[in-house]
Amino acid sequence: MPAPKIVVVGSLNLDLVTGVDVWPAPGETRLGTSFAMIPGGKGANQAVAAARLGAEVSMVGRVGEDAFADTLLLNLANAGVSTDHVLKTPGASTGLAAITVCQGENSIVVVPGANHLLTVEDVEAAESVISRADILLLQNEIPLETALAARDLAVAHAVRVIFDPAPAPASKIPDRFWNVDLLTPNCSEASVLAEIDIQNRDDADRAAEVIHAKGASLVVMKLGDQGALWCEGGRPPIHVPAFPVKVVDSTAAGDAFTAALAVAWSEGRSPQEILRFACAAGGLAVTRAGAQPSLPTRAEVEQLSAAQ
Ligand code: RIB
Repeated sequence: MPAPKIVVVGSLNLDLVTGVDVWPAPGETRLGTSFAMIPGGKGANQAVAAARLGAEVSMVGRVGEDAFADTLLLNLANAGVSTDHVLKTPGASTGLAAITVCQGENSIVVVPGANHLLTVEDVEAAESVISRADILLLQNEIPLETALAARDLAVAHAVRVIFDPAPAPASKIPDRFWNVDLLTPNCSEASVLAEIDIQNRDDADRAAEVIHAKGASLVVMKLGDQGALWCEGGRPPIHVPAFPVKVVDSTAAGDAFTAALAVAWSEGRSPQEILRFACAAGGLAVTRAGAQPSLPTRAEVEQLSAAQ
């Protein structure tokens, strides 16, 4: 089978990661246990994850003109991701994420920098690469107008689109947002999109139905340690449990999941197989520290998803 062609139009961040034993309260100072600078950004993470899973990947995005940019571009190139459409932006800073990790959980503050300067014209300049793709992957760390322009371009070329609405939209969602092949929110994003407080599986099923009814052809909801949900509407949702793993750091687990979903979906597998492959990728990512260093290879994911 030829390698799936995936284009990611999205963010690149340098993650500044601090480990703590206890979350600091507002106004409190605490001593951290570790610090590292790690390549991240939801877009770049998904690009690297898809490449490690065997896809041919191109990244479309913007970085600043600083040393962080070089680190991020080198890391993408080392993973085999084409960076021909990642533009350097004079006068802008490269995207940054201040991440605190405490007992495997993280909190993230993103300073978008150059990511928020990615324009509709930048996307149009990448039309040739988007038009040749099997799947376009989008997230919500670039301007929504730019993401929607990329979506429209992909649709015009019959390229399937996966929109990972992370982080959840902070302002009113335009009607044309919903017209997408596959939306893949986690629980908190689905709560915002469906306007439902998700406390249990029934709520999650209901939220997926609501999001589907708004226009997404397919909804795949990431439920973390509860696995994942496939909802096409009109049929009972398909649920696949998570793999039991030792949690080290959940950063980029959702990105590993989404990239694996894209790869397995483009390979025409069944919904159960796709979810299992994606849950295995997300599960492996939480067993390691950091964003891009935690993303698993195809062999690792195949091995875990074949396990009983
Ligand atoms: O999904 C994880 C990513 O979110 C981090 O790498 C950080 O950069 C933020 O974009």
